[in-house]
Amino acid sequence: MKKSSEKFANTAVLWQLCGFGGRQSNLGGVGAPRLRPRFKKRATTTPAVLCIFFSLLFAALVFFGWFDHSIFLSLSSENIEQLKTPKNYPLNCTAWNRTQTCPTNYPTVHKPTNLSRPSNQTCPDYFRWIHEDLRPWKESGITREMLEGARTAHFRLIIVDGKAYVEKYKRSVRNRDLFTVWGIAQLLRLYPGRLPDLEMMFDCNDQPVIKSRDYKGPNAGPPPLFRYCSNKWSLDIVFPDWSFWGWPDTNIRPWKHLSKDIKEGNKRVKWEDRVPLAYWKGTPSMAASRRDLMNCNISDQHNWGAHLYIQDWLKEIKEGFKQSNLEDQCTHRYKIYIEGRAWSVSEKFIFACNSPTLYVTPRHHDFFIRGMVPQKHYWPIRDNNKCKSLKFAVEWGNNHTSEAKAMGEASSHYVQEDLKMDYVYDYMFHLLNEYAKLLKFKSTIPPKAVELCPEVMACAADGVRKKYMLESLEEAPSDTIPCTLPPPYDPQELKAFLDGKFTNTKQVESWENEYWDKQNMKQ
Ligand SMILES: *[C@@H]1O[C@H](CO)[C@@H](O)[C@H](O)[C@H]1NC(C)=O
Ligand SMILES: *[C@@H]1O[C@H](CO)[C@@H](O)[C@H](O)[C@H]1NC(C)=O
Ligand SMILES: *[C@@H]1O[C@H](CO)[C@@H](O)[C@H](O)[C@H]1NC(C)=O
Ligand SMILES: *[C@@H]1O[C@H](CO)[C@@H](O)[C@H](O)[C@H]1NC(C)=O
Ligand SMILES: *[C@@H]1O[C@H](CO)[C@@H](O)[C@H](O)[C@H]1NC(C)=O
Ligand SMILES: *[C@@H]1O[C@H](CO)[C@@H](O)[C@H](O)[C@H]1NC(C)=O
Repeated sequence: MKKSSEKFANTAVLWQLCGFGGRQSNLGGVGAPRLRPRFKKRATTTPAVLCIFFSLLFAALVFFGWFDHSIFLSLSSENIEQLKTPKNYPLNCTAWNRTQTCPTNYPTVHKPTNLSRPSNQTCPDYFRWIHEDLRPWKESGITREMLEGARTAHFRLIIVDGKAYVEKYKRSVRNRDLFTVWGIAQLLRLYPGRLPDLEMMFDCNDQPVIKSRDYKGPNAGPPPLFRYCSNKWSLDIVFPDWSFWGWPDTNIRPWKHLSKDIKEGNKRVKWEDRVPLAYWKGTPSMAASRRDLMNCNISDQHNWGAHLYIQDWLKEIKEGFKQSNLEDQCTHRYKIYIEGRAWSVSEKFIFACNSPTLYVTPRHHDFFIRGMVPQKHYWPIRDNNKCKSLKFAVEWGNNHTSEAKAMGEASSHYVQEDLKMDYVYDYMFHLLNEYAKLLKFKSTIPPKAVELCPEVMACAADGVRKKYMLESLEEAPSDTIPCTLPPPYDPQELKAFLDGKFTNTKQVESWENEYWDKQNMKQ
């Protein structure tokens, strides 16, 4: 016997198809069909009367069990699929404040309803690095001992039976841990029930710490430790940074919104009309390399083609961040990226501006930069001869405007499309999924761990923190399945890809040498 609510829902569909019922009515609980406006327009008086008659007849048939529910489904399952829309689940702070327990009404299984996305849609190429990052554990797997070796972490994240828990070990700087954990909570809401059981350690500091040289040989067993960046000498596993969900300390909105703001900002001044120089604004005190960059500021003595500014955070905070809006920083024809203590979170914001990025040779990488290619997405700048390198880059760009413009468009397209939030979540999903396959122990919930749901973090939050959390809250499960993880690079393919990047960089350096040789001869 079918539940009468289902029958009611079926009848309601017909009722609505006849041209009645509210647009938003959502009658039968989760996944109940609701009217699409385009059906509404078709109704006219006479058909409507007939329609009502047949509806009532049909309702009676269904209600008395003479018409099987499954027949109805097979008759128009496609229509039903299309009519389904996910229900929304806003924060429920009333319940949280009363009971301090996570809501239990959120779906525990992921049933995407948008069938128009082909199930074999492959993720962007940079996802292939997931296989490379996990390669150190491919043969050995990950034992509990290896995991416990990463106890220097800020927190442990546990997923058991589709629910997440966090055990916090220490505070991280400036809300990094909070917004990282928030991001993971959103991932679980987007793909409920899809994530496997796992335990992972997360470190929120800048610099990678798991040195490859300390873990050589087949029984090396390096600890798996997640963080925002790594480098070629380290085994830390890279994960999207906190700022994708917002960074209250610097007034940086969640990426979903900020990327749109920057896209709008790009339209304000045509590339040709921008200041024909390079721009950088930041805190030089973070790194020697940045202090060195300051020597390249334009002055009466030298024109290195760069306008460099010091970001005074204290002043900005006092004045409400009036001077640090990222969408207002696409004023120059070129933007400079330079690392801080390690990789810099500013990277995606700089790429998002459609002025070409002059990319000072980095030592670290985050999860998405590995898919980007010099000369195509950015212009490489020597770290050991910055000023001359910048001067040449700016002059070259001003001589080759269409190439320069194309580079700026390519990088902003890359971060707008391949790095949109859907893919950030899919990257997290696949990384955690592949990681969990390596675990050789049963994940358990430590006694001190707390269950993770948005309410735990957001209900007691206030100010900008709360604002950003609400802005980046995923209110319903995703309507589609994750993209398909591309296969690992085969070694030759990977070598060819890296050689290509190397060659493109060397080519720029040789043009640069030629240019300066000529300049020197003139003098
Ligand atoms: C829940 O409690 C917090 C303080 O802990 C308060 O700011 C918030 O308004 C409360 N929310 C509701 C819906 O009661
Ligand atoms: C909030 O949670 C309570 C208790 O679980 C539930 O009765 C109520 O319907 C929920 N409210 C919303 C808006 O989901
Ligand atoms: C379904 O997914 C495809 C591809 O992701 C998207 O283009 C389309 O807009 C989605 N349709 C709906 C109704 O959300
Ligand atoms: C995805 O599947 C469709 C139909 O099943 C097929 O035509 C298409 O070639 C596939 N695409 C890829 C990239 O495998
Ligand atoms: C660079 O020069 C500009 C003026 O040309 C000045 O406003 C700015 O403060 C200088 N930056 C640094 C880091 O000295
Ligand atoms: C730019 O063009 C000028 C004039 O043609 C030339 O003197 C200069 O060397 C060129 N610079 C670069 C970097 O291409």
